[in-house]
Amino acid sequence: MSPFSSETACIFLAVLAVLGGTALCKYNKCPGLVQLAICLASLWGGACWLSLSLFWGLVLFSLSCLFVYTYLSGQELLPVDEKAVLVTGGDSGIGHALCKYLDKLGFTVFAGVLNEKGPGAEELRKTCSPRLSVLQMNITDPEQIKDAVSKVTEKVQDRGLWALVNNAGVLGFPTDGELIPMTEYRRCMTVNFFGAVEVTKAFLPLLRKSKGRLVNISSIGGWVPMEKLAAYGSSKAALTMFSSVMRHELSKWGIKVSVIQPGGFRTSIAGTSDMWDKMEKDIMDHLSAEVKEDYGQEYIQVQRKFLTFINEQANPDFTPVVQDLMHAVSAKSPLAFYAPGKFAYLWFCLASFLPTGVFDYIRISNMKKCMPRALRVPNSKNKAT
Ligand SMILES: NC(=O)c1ccc[n+]([C@@H]2O[C@H](COP(=O)([O-])OP(=O)(O)OC[C@H]3O[C@@H](n4cnc5c(N)ncnc54)[C@H](OP(=O)(O)O)[C@@H]3O)[C@@H](O)[C@H]2O)c1
Ligand SMILES: *[C@@H]1O[C@H](CO)[C@@H](O)[C@H](O)[C@H]1NC(C)=O
Ligand SMILES: *[C@@H]1O[C@H](CO)[C@@H](O)[C@H](O)[C@H]1NC(C)=O
Repeated sequence: MSPFSSETACIFLAVLAVLGGTALCKYNKCPGLVQLAICLASLWGGACWLSLSLFWGLVLFSLSCLFVYTYLSGQELLPVDEKAVLVTGGDSGIGHALCKYLDKLGFTVFAGVLNEKGPGAEELRKTCSPRLSVLQMNITDPEQIKDAVSKVTEKVQDRGLWALVNNAGVLGFPTDGELIPMTEYRRCMTVNFFGAVEVTKAFLPLLRKSKGRLVNISSIGGWVPMEKLAAYGSSKAALTMFSSVMRHELSKWGIKVSVIQPGGFRTSIAGTSDMWDKMEKDIMDHLSAEVKEDYGQEYIQVQRKFLTFINEQANPDFTPVVQDLMHAVSAKSPLAFYAPGKFAYLWFCLASFLPTGVFDYIRISNMKKCMPRALRVPNSKNKAT
């Protein structure tokens, strides 16, 4: 006996469609909606397939309602109420856009910047309300972190800090892991990982006061293995894992932790051609004669095409990532993970659920085929010497 051919089933499905439709219209821009829709669809798909009895149909229906209800109640945004938020790396890109957005909504924003005299800091002072303070904060400099803590403490006093967004980060020069100099691996770790850890530790006492939010901007490259991103991806993977451990540990203090894994936004993270010249030279200087011979200088020079490619493909509109950040900062129940950006969520799912062999096959066959000299010209060694 299948309830799905009966009238009762039609009623269930109709109510479900109305609930789902409401959620879709009202919360169109909300993260997590896709997951919810997939959950519900697979639940009902499975039920149809199994042709469940009326009783199980009812159970399933109640479950669906519970899902939708839990989801909707978590979407509510908390009032701004002079909440204070600190964002690191506010000089440019995503951090800069977020500072402006939060300021417009009425938050008390502390914009940590790498250079308080730079154009990014100037722009923030010029365009934002007097509530926003620009703080000189090189996240790898313990003295500057300490200064920032005392300035923030003085301003927020007993209210505490509502949210800390660890955004500052560096990408480095993407190329094969064998070619990336150790100095570059260390730099990625120092800024992306140790910097974020130190800032977090320094501000946790203020966060615990407000039972607020900790938001770390990691990267899709910290979850999905991506060629040329050995240094950057590893530092972001470390950050992602730390965030997950913190999510468990800080729950007893009432602090909610989210990780944002954006992919493909056009910011200054890809660097300028001056920076590329410098890094290319740095790579060449560090290579042994054998490695230089096997890869060939032209292989290393072609890497900057990858950076140009990243920039061309990237999205100049930060709305998706800023909206997810906003959700993490102020929704009643923020998600643990967000993956804004074109295909970011898709890659996230593929890397999480596909068997490794299948996933690797997809990644490797998608790679741009540019080969090191020794693989392009089998006898190059003999010819060169
Ligand atoms: N764009 C994307 O698609 C994408 C994808 C995945 C993850 N992310 C992550 O998103 C975050 C923001 O990056 P973005 O794309 O907006 O790039 P961005 O424009 O380069 O922003 C990064 C900011 O961090 C600052 N910074 C670098 N080192 C610092 C230090 N030691 N102390 C303090 N600030 C420092 C940079 O200052 P300067 O400008 O002065 O160097 C810059 O303002 C990063 O964590 C990045 O890894 C971005
Ligand atoms: C940030 O601080 C580190 C450590 O003190 C220093 O090596 C680096 O040059 C600083 N970066 C900038 C841009 O000031
Ligand atoms: C963010 O990352 C830092 C450093 O990895 C970690 O100490 C902290 O707990 C993380 N916070 C959140 C909210 O994930």
